[in-house]
Amino acid sequence: MKLLVTGGAGFIGSAFARRRLAATSDELVVLDKLTYAGDRDNLDEALADSATGGRLRFVHGDIADADLVAPLVAEADAVVNFAAESHVDRSILAADDFLRTGVIGVHVLLEAVRAAMAADGRPRRLLQVSTDEVYGSVETGASSEGDPLAPRSPYAAAKAAGEMLVQAYHVTYGLDTVITRGANTFGPHQHPEKLVPLFITSALQDMPLPLYGDGLQRRDWLYVDDHADGVAAVLERGASGDVYNLPGAGERTNRDVTAAILDRLHKPWSLARSVPDRPGHDRRYAMTGARAAALGWRASTGFEDGMSRTVAWYRGHETWWRRRRDAAWDAYYERQYGRRLAESVEA
Ligand code: NAD
Ligand code: DAU
Repeated sequence: MKLLVTGGAGFIGSAFARRRLAATSDELVVLDKLTYAGDRDNLDEALADSATGGRLRFVHGDIADADLVAPLVAEADAVVNFAAESHVDRSILAADDFLRTGVIGVHVLLEAVRAAMAADGRPRRLLQVSTDEVYGSVETGASSEGDPLAPRSPYAAAKAAGEMLVQAYHVTYGLDTVITRGANTFGPHQHPEKLVPLFITSALQDMPLPLYGDGLQRRDWLYVDDHADGVAAVLERGASGDVYNLPGAGERTNRDVTAAILDRLHKPWSLARSVPDRPGHDRRYAMTGARAAALGWRASTGFEDGMSRTVAWYRGHETWWRRRRDAAWDAYYERQYGRRLAESVEA
Protein backbone atom coordinates (compact mmCIF):
# COMPACT_ATOMS: atom_id res chain seq x y z
CA MET A 1 0.00 0.00 0.00
CA LYS A 2 0.93 3.62 -0.45
CA LEU A 3 0.03 5.43 2.76
CA LEU A 4 -0.23 9.14 3.38
CA VAL A 5 0.58 9.56 7.08
CA THR A 6 -0.32 13.05 8.25
CA GLY A 7 1.25 14.23 11.50
CA GLY A 8 3.81 11.45 11.11
CA ALA A 9 6.69 13.48 12.58
CA GLY A 10 4.99 13.58 16.00
CA PHE A 11 4.97 11.10 18.85
CA ILE A 12 2.46 8.40 17.84
CA GLY A 13 2.58 9.08 14.08
CA SER A 14 6.34 8.52 13.94
CA ALA A 15 6.01 5.28 15.92
CA PHE A 16 3.35 4.16 13.43
CA ALA A 17 5.64 5.07 10.50
CA ARG A 18 8.64 3.23 11.98
CA ARG A 19 6.64 0.11 12.76
CA ARG A 20 4.72 0.09 9.49
CA LEU A 21 7.89 0.40 7.42
CA ALA A 22 9.55 -2.38 9.41
CA ALA A 23 6.57 -4.77 9.30
CA THR A 24 5.34 -4.30 5.71
CA SER A 25 6.57 -3.34 2.25
CA ASP A 26 4.32 -0.24 2.26
CA GLU A 27 5.51 3.07 0.87
CA LEU A 28 4.85 6.02 3.16
CA VAL A 29 4.57 9.74 2.56
CA VAL A 30 4.65 11.67 5.83
CA LEU A 31 3.04 15.10 5.64
CA ASP A 32 3.75 17.20 8.71
CA LYS A 33 3.61 20.91 9.52
CA LEU A 34 6.47 20.58 12.01
CA THR A 35 4.80 22.59 14.74
CA TYR A 36 6.69 22.88 18.04
CA ALA A 37 5.52 19.28 18.69
CA GLY A 38 6.77 17.70 15.46
CA ASP A 39 10.34 17.16 14.31
CA ARG A 40 11.94 15.31 11.44
CA ASP A 41 14.42 13.84 13.90
CA ASN A 42 11.64 11.46 15.00
CA LEU A 43 11.97 9.88 11.54
CA ASP A 44 15.78 9.88 11.37
CA GLU A 45 16.12 6.19 12.22
CA ALA A 46 13.62 5.13 9.56
CA LEU A 47 15.12 7.46 6.94
CA ALA A 48 18.67 6.27 7.64
CA ASP A 49 17.83 2.55 7.66
CA SER A 50 18.60 1.02 4.26
CA ALA A 51 15.63 -1.37 4.57
CA THR A 52 13.09 1.41 5.15
CA GLY A 53 14.55 4.78 4.09
CA GLY A 54 13.82 4.24 0.37
CA ARG A 55 10.11 3.77 1.13
CA LEU A 56 9.68 6.93 3.20
CA ARG A 57 9.24 10.44 1.84
CA PHE A 58 8.82 13.49 4.02
CA VAL A 59 6.73 16.49 2.94
CA HIS A 60 6.69 19.62 5.06
CA GLY A 61 3.23 21.19 5.05
CA ASP A 62 -0.20 21.75 6.52
CA ILE A 63 -3.17 19.37 6.19
CA ALA A 64 -5.36 22.49 5.84
CA ASP A 65 -3.52 23.43 2.61
CA ALA A 66 -5.87 21.99 -0.05
CA ASP A 67 -3.47 22.53 -3.00
CA LEU A 68 -0.69 20.66 -1.25
CA VAL A 69 -2.91 17.85 0.03
CA ALA A 70 -4.81 17.01 -3.20
CA PRO A 71 -1.96 15.38 -5.19
CA LEU A 72 -0.65 13.55 -2.12
CA VAL A 73 -4.07 12.02 -1.49
CA ALA A 74 -4.51 11.23 -5.19
CA GLU A 75 -1.37 9.09 -5.25
CA ALA A 76 -2.18 7.29 -1.96
CA ASP A 77 -4.18 4.12 -1.28
CA ALA A 78 -5.11 5.26 2.22
CA VAL A 79 -4.73 8.25 4.54
CA VAL A 80 -3.91 7.91 8.23
CA ASN A 81 -4.47 11.22 9.99
CA PHE A 82 -2.48 11.74 13.20
CA ALA A 83 -2.12 15.50 12.64
CA ALA A 84 -3.53 17.57 15.49
CA GLU A 85 -2.65 20.03 18.18
CA SER A 86 -2.58 17.48 20.96
CA HIS A 87 -2.04 19.16 24.35
CA VAL A 88 -5.09 19.92 26.50
CA ASP A 89 -3.33 22.63 28.56
CA ARG A 90 -2.35 24.55 25.43
CA SER A 91 -5.94 24.32 24.15
CA ILE A 92 -7.05 26.03 27.36
CA LEU A 93 -4.54 28.86 26.75
CA ALA A 94 -5.57 29.31 23.06
CA ALA A 95 -7.75 27.01 20.93
CA ASP A 96 -7.42 28.55 17.42
CA ASP A 97 -4.84 26.11 16.03
CA PHE A 98 -6.73 23.16 17.53
CA LEU A 99 -9.80 24.09 15.51
CA ARG A 100 -7.88 24.96 12.37
CA THR A 101 -6.14 21.59 12.20
CA GLY A 102 -8.80 19.48 13.93
CA VAL A 103 -11.78 20.76 11.94
CA ILE A 104 -10.65 22.66 8.80
CA GLY A 105 -7.66 20.33 8.29
CA VAL A 106 -9.81 17.21 8.60
CA HIS A 107 -12.35 18.72 6.18
CA VAL A 108 -9.59 19.40 3.64
CA LEU A 109 -8.43 15.76 3.88
CA LEU A 110 -11.99 14.47 3.44
CA GLU A 111 -12.58 16.69 0.42
CA ALA A 112 -9.31 15.52 -1.13
CA VAL A 113 -10.32 11.87 -0.65
CA ARG A 114 -13.73 12.59 -2.19
CA ALA A 115 -12.20 14.39 -5.18
CA ALA A 116 -9.61 11.67 -5.79
CA MET A 117 -12.30 8.96 -5.69
CA ALA A 118 -14.50 10.94 -8.09
CA ALA A 119 -11.56 11.38 -10.48
CA ASP A 120 -10.45 7.75 -10.82
CA GLY A 121 -13.20 5.70 -9.13
CA ARG A 122 -10.70 4.23 -6.66
CA PRO A 123 -11.82 4.42 -3.01
CA ARG A 124 -9.21 5.45 -0.46
CA ARG A 125 -9.66 4.58 3.19
CA LEU A 126 -9.30 7.48 5.62
CA LEU A 127 -8.43 6.59 9.21
CA GLN A 128 -8.99 9.41 11.69
CA VAL A 129 -6.93 9.05 14.86
CA SER A 130 -9.13 10.26 17.72
CA THR A 131 -9.10 10.01 21.49
CA ASP A 132 -10.91 8.68 24.56
CA GLU A 133 -11.29 12.35 25.61
CA VAL A 134 -14.30 12.71 23.28
CA TYR A 135 -16.37 10.74 25.84
CA GLY A 136 -15.65 13.29 28.56
CA SER A 137 -15.00 12.34 32.16
CA VAL A 138 -16.09 8.78 33.05
CA GLU A 139 -16.47 8.52 36.83
CA THR A 140 -17.39 4.81 36.83
CA GLY A 141 -17.57 1.99 34.28
CA ALA A 142 -16.12 2.23 30.78
CA SER A 143 -17.15 3.98 27.57
CA SER A 144 -18.29 1.93 24.57
CA GLU A 145 -18.15 3.15 20.98
CA GLY A 146 -21.91 3.86 20.84
CA ASP A 147 -21.88 6.13 23.90
CA PRO A 148 -22.64 9.83 23.40
CA LEU A 149 -19.73 12.22 22.97
CA ALA A 150 -19.34 14.78 25.76
CA PRO A 151 -16.03 16.60 25.22
CA ARG A 152 -15.09 19.01 28.01
CA SER A 153 -11.89 20.77 26.86
CA PRO A 154 -11.31 22.79 23.67
CA TYR A 155 -8.89 20.03 22.56
CA ALA A 156 -11.49 17.30 23.07
CA ALA A 157 -14.18 19.41 21.38
CA ALA A 158 -11.96 19.85 18.30
CA LYS A 159 -11.31 16.09 18.19
CA ALA A 160 -15.04 15.33 18.51
CA ALA A 161 -15.82 17.82 15.72
CA GLY A 162 -13.24 16.14 13.47
CA GLU A 163 -14.88 12.77 14.13
CA MET A 164 -18.33 14.15 13.30
CA LEU A 165 -17.11 15.41 9.95
CA VAL A 166 -15.55 12.04 9.17
CA GLN A 167 -18.81 10.24 10.00
CA ALA A 168 -20.80 12.76 7.95
CA TYR A 169 -18.59 12.13 4.88
CA HIS A 170 -19.00 8.37 5.31
CA VAL A 171 -22.80 8.67 5.37
CA THR A 172 -23.25 11.44 2.80
CA TYR A 173 -20.60 10.62 0.20
CA GLY A 174 -19.89 6.95 0.96
CA LEU A 175 -16.26 7.56 1.89
CA ASP A 176 -14.46 4.55 3.36
CA THR A 177 -13.64 5.86 6.83
CA VAL A 178 -12.64 4.40 10.20
CA ILE A 179 -11.96 6.12 13.51
CA THR A 180 -9.77 5.05 16.43
CA ARG A 181 -10.15 6.39 19.97
CA GLY A 182 -6.87 5.81 21.76
CA ALA A 183 -6.22 6.03 25.48
CA ASN A 184 -3.49 8.13 27.17
CA THR A 185 -0.33 7.17 25.39
CA PHE A 186 3.25 7.14 26.70
CA GLY A 187 6.66 6.01 25.51
CA PRO A 188 9.76 7.25 23.66
CA HIS A 189 9.63 10.39 21.47
CA GLN A 190 6.78 12.10 23.37
CA HIS A 191 7.13 15.86 23.62
CA PRO A 192 8.10 16.85 27.20
CA GLU A 193 4.96 18.94 27.71
CA LYS A 194 2.92 15.81 28.57
CA LEU A 195 2.71 14.35 32.10
CA VAL A 196 5.05 11.36 31.74
CA PRO A 197 7.95 12.98 29.82
CA LEU A 198 7.52 16.27 31.72
CA PHE A 199 7.94 14.50 35.03
CA ILE A 200 10.81 12.29 33.81
CA THR A 201 12.82 15.16 32.29
CA SER A 202 12.09 17.47 35.24
CA ALA A 203 13.00 14.83 37.85
CA LEU A 204 16.25 14.17 35.99
CA GLN A 205 17.05 17.86 36.65
CA ASP A 206 15.71 17.81 40.24
CA MET A 207 12.98 20.27 39.22
CA PRO A 208 9.52 20.24 40.86
CA LEU A 209 6.78 18.00 39.42
CA PRO A 210 3.50 19.99 39.25
CA LEU A 211 0.65 17.59 40.10
CA TYR A 212 -2.71 19.19 39.28
CA GLY A 213 -5.18 19.26 42.17
CA ASP A 214 -5.25 16.17 44.37
CA GLY A 215 -3.45 14.02 41.76
CA LEU A 216 -6.12 11.33 42.04
CA GLN A 217 -7.33 11.69 38.45
CA ARG A 218 -7.13 8.35 36.64
CA ARG A 219 -5.95 7.53 33.13
CA ASP A 220 -5.66 4.17 31.32
CA TRP A 221 -2.08 4.13 30.02
CA LEU A 222 -1.35 2.78 26.53
CA TYR A 223 2.21 2.14 25.39
CA VAL A 224 2.97 3.93 22.12
CA ASP A 225 3.86 0.82 20.10
CA ASP A 226 0.55 -0.75 21.10
CA HIS A 227 -1.30 2.38 20.01
CA ALA A 228 0.48 2.34 16.64
CA ASP A 229 -0.37 -1.36 16.17
CA GLY A 230 -4.01 -0.71 17.08
CA VAL A 231 -4.21 1.93 14.38
CA ALA A 232 -2.67 -0.53 11.90
CA ALA A 233 -5.21 -3.25 12.85
CA VAL A 234 -8.13 -0.88 12.29
CA LEU A 235 -6.65 0.39 9.04
CA GLU A 236 -6.34 -3.16 7.72
CA ARG A 237 -9.36 -4.90 9.21
CA GLY A 238 -11.77 -2.29 10.59
CA ALA A 239 -15.29 -2.19 9.15
CA SER A 240 -16.00 0.86 7.04
CA GLY A 241 -17.82 3.58 9.00
CA ASP A 242 -16.96 2.06 12.40
CA VAL A 243 -15.27 3.50 15.46
CA TYR A 244 -12.77 1.50 17.52
CA ASN A 245 -11.70 2.15 21.10
CA LEU A 246 -8.04 1.41 21.81
CA PRO A 247 -7.86 1.08 25.60
CA GLY A 248 -4.63 0.89 27.57
CA ALA A 249 -3.26 -1.91 29.73
CA GLY A 250 -3.14 -0.18 33.08
CA GLU A 251 -5.34 2.33 34.91
CA ARG A 252 -3.35 4.51 37.31
CA THR A 253 -3.83 7.72 39.28
CA ASN A 254 -1.48 10.58 38.45
CA ARG A 255 0.07 10.03 41.89
CA ASP A 256 0.79 6.40 40.94
CA VAL A 257 2.41 7.57 37.70
CA THR A 258 4.53 10.10 39.59
CA ALA A 259 5.69 7.49 42.09
CA ALA A 260 6.54 5.04 39.29
CA ILE A 261 8.76 7.67 37.64
CA LEU A 262 10.47 8.79 40.87
CA ASP A 263 11.14 5.17 41.93
CA ARG A 264 12.85 4.37 38.65
CA LEU A 265 15.01 7.51 38.88
CA HIS A 266 15.74 7.04 42.61
CA LYS A 267 14.43 10.54 43.28
CA PRO A 268 12.48 11.64 46.41
CA TRP A 269 8.69 12.13 46.56
CA SER A 270 9.40 15.69 47.81
CA LEU A 271 9.92 16.76 44.16
CA ALA A 272 6.16 16.30 43.64
CA ARG A 273 4.20 19.51 44.30
CA SER A 274 0.46 19.94 44.42
CA VAL A 275 -0.51 22.91 42.22
CA PRO A 276 -3.84 24.58 41.28
CA ASP A 277 -5.88 22.27 39.06
CA ARG A 278 -6.40 22.29 35.29
CA PRO A 279 -9.76 24.03 34.59
CA GLY A 280 -12.45 21.46 33.70
CA HIS A 281 -10.05 18.63 34.51
CA ASP A 282 -11.51 15.25 33.51
CA ARG A 283 -11.39 12.94 36.51
CA ARG A 284 -11.13 9.62 34.73
CA TYR A 285 -11.11 7.97 31.30
CA ALA A 286 -11.85 4.29 30.72
CA MET A 287 -12.98 2.40 27.62
CA THR A 288 -14.19 -1.07 26.65
CA GLY A 289 -12.00 -2.87 24.11
CA ALA A 290 -14.15 -5.70 22.73
CA ARG A 291 -14.49 -4.24 19.23
CA ALA A 292 -10.74 -3.87 18.68
CA ALA A 293 -10.17 -7.26 20.34
CA ALA A 294 -12.43 -8.81 17.68
CA LEU A 295 -9.92 -7.50 15.11
CA GLY A 296 -7.16 -9.30 17.00
CA TRP A 297 -5.74 -6.26 18.80
CA ARG A 298 -5.25 -5.59 22.48
CA ALA A 299 -2.59 -3.64 24.35
CA SER A 300 0.24 -6.01 25.17
CA THR A 301 2.69 -3.81 27.10
CA GLY A 302 1.82 -3.42 30.77
CA PHE A 303 2.17 -0.08 32.56
CA GLU A 304 5.22 -1.10 34.66
CA ASP A 305 7.16 -2.54 31.73
CA GLY A 306 6.25 0.39 29.47
CA MET A 307 7.28 2.88 32.14
CA SER A 308 10.67 1.20 32.63
CA ARG A 309 11.30 1.35 28.89
CA THR A 310 10.17 4.96 28.72
CA VAL A 311 12.33 6.16 31.61
CA ALA A 312 15.35 4.34 30.13
CA TRP A 313 14.75 5.99 26.75
CA TYR A 314 14.63 9.53 28.17
CA ARG A 315 17.75 8.84 30.27
CA GLY A 316 19.55 7.79 27.10
CA HIS A 317 18.28 10.63 24.88
CA GLU A 318 19.11 13.81 26.76
CA THR A 319 20.00 15.71 23.57
CA TRP A 320 16.57 14.86 22.14
CA TRP A 321 14.57 16.23 25.06
CA ARG A 322 16.84 19.21 25.81
CA ARG A 323 16.31 20.33 22.22
CA ARG A 324 12.59 20.54 22.97
CA ARG A 325 13.00 22.25 26.34
CA ASP A 326 14.34 25.37 24.56
CA ALA A 327 13.66 29.11 24.90
CA ALA A 328 10.12 28.82 23.51
CA TRP A 329 9.55 26.00 26.00
CA ASP A 330 10.77 28.21 28.86
CA ALA A 331 8.17 30.84 27.91
CA TYR A 332 5.41 28.18 27.80
CA TYR A 333 6.61 26.65 31.07
CA GLU A 334 6.55 30.00 32.84
CA ARG A 335 3.04 30.75 31.56
CA GLN A 336 1.68 27.32 32.44
CA TYR A 337 3.52 26.65 35.71
CA GLY A 338 5.10 29.88 37.04
CA ARG A 339 2.22 31.05 39.20
CA ARG A 340 1.05 27.50 39.90
CA LEU A 341 4.42 26.49 41.34
CA ALA A 342 4.64 29.71 43.36
CA GLU A 343 1.34 28.66 45.01
CA SER A 344 2.25 24.97 45.29
CA VAL A 345 2.12 22.90 48.46
CA GLU A 346 3.52 19.51 49.48
CA ALA A 347 1.84 16.78 47.39
P1 NAD B 1 1.98 15.17 18.75
O1 NAD B 1 1.62 16.54 19.18
O2 NAD B 1 3.21 14.52 19.26
O3 NAD B 1 2.07 15.13 17.13
C1 NAD B 1 1.19 15.82 16.31
C2 NAD B 1 1.90 15.98 14.97
O4 NAD B 1 0.99 16.64 14.07
C3 NAD B 1 3.16 16.86 15.04
O5 NAD B 1 4.21 16.26 14.32
C4 NAD B 1 2.73 18.18 14.39
O6 NAD B 1 3.80 18.86 13.76
C5 NAD B 1 1.71 17.67 13.40
N1 NAD B 1 0.73 18.69 12.98
C6 NAD B 1 0.02 19.52 13.79
N2 NAD B 1 -0.78 20.30 13.04
C7 NAD B 1 -0.59 19.93 11.75
C8 NAD B 1 -1.14 20.36 10.51
N3 NAD B 1 -2.06 21.33 10.46
N4 NAD B 1 -0.72 19.77 9.38
C9 NAD B 1 0.21 18.79 9.41
N5 NAD B 1 0.78 18.35 10.55
C10 NAD B 1 0.38 18.91 11.71
O7 NAD B 1 0.70 14.29 19.05
P2 NAD B 1 0.55 12.74 19.37
O8 NAD B 1 0.53 12.57 20.82
O9 NAD B 1 1.48 11.97 18.54
O10 NAD B 1 -0.95 12.52 18.85
C11 NAD B 1 -1.19 12.10 17.51
C12 NAD B 1 -2.69 11.95 17.32
O11 NAD B 1 -3.18 11.01 18.27
C13 NAD B 1 -3.47 13.24 17.56
O12 NAD B 1 -4.50 13.30 16.62
C14 NAD B 1 -4.03 13.06 18.97
O13 NAD B 1 -5.22 13.78 19.11
C15 NAD B 1 -4.24 11.58 19.02
N6 NAD B 1 -4.17 10.94 20.34
C16 NAD B 1 -3.10 11.18 21.17
C17 NAD B 1 -3.03 10.51 22.38
C18 NAD B 1 -1.89 10.74 23.36
O14 NAD B 1 -2.01 10.34 24.51
N7 NAD B 1 -0.80 11.35 22.97
C19 NAD B 1 -4.05 9.61 22.75
C20 NAD B 1 -5.12 9.41 21.87
C21 NAD B 1 -5.16 10.07 20.66
O1 DAU C 1 -6.56 10.44 26.84
C1 DAU C 1 -5.96 10.68 25.60
C2 DAU C 1 -5.30 12.02 25.62
O2 DAU C 1 -4.19 11.91 26.50
C3 DAU C 1 -4.88 12.51 24.25
O3 DAU C 1 -6.00 12.68 23.44
C4 DAU C 1 -4.10 13.83 24.37
O4 DAU C 1 -3.57 14.20 23.10
C5 DAU C 1 -2.94 13.63 25.32
O5 DAU C 1 -2.28 14.85 25.54
C6 DAU C 1 -3.45 13.09 26.66
O6 DAU C 1 -4.25 14.08 27.34
P1 DAU C 1 -4.16 14.30 28.92
O7 DAU C 1 -4.66 15.64 29.25
O8 DAU C 1 -4.80 13.17 29.65
O9 DAU C 1 -2.57 14.15 29.10
P2 DAU C 1 -1.52 15.00 29.96
O10 DAU C 1 -0.21 14.30 29.83
O11 DAU C 1 -1.56 16.45 29.65
O12 DAU C 1 -2.07 14.81 31.41
C7 DAU C 1 -2.22 13.51 31.98
C8 DAU C 1 -2.79 13.70 33.38
O13 DAU C 1 -1.79 14.34 34.18
C9 DAU C 1 -4.00 14.59 33.43
O14 DAU C 1 -4.86 14.13 34.48
C10 DAU C 1 -3.44 15.95 33.81
C11 DAU C 1 -2.25 15.59 34.70
N1 DAU C 1 -1.11 16.53 34.67
C12 DAU C 1 -0.60 16.88 33.45
C13 DAU C 1 0.45 17.75 33.37
C14 DAU C 1 1.03 18.15 32.01
C15 DAU C 1 -0.59 17.04 35.83
O15 DAU C 1 -1.05 16.71 36.96
N2 DAU C 1 0.45 17.91 35.76
C16 DAU C 1 0.99 18.32 34.56
O16 DAU C 1 1.92 19.15 34.58
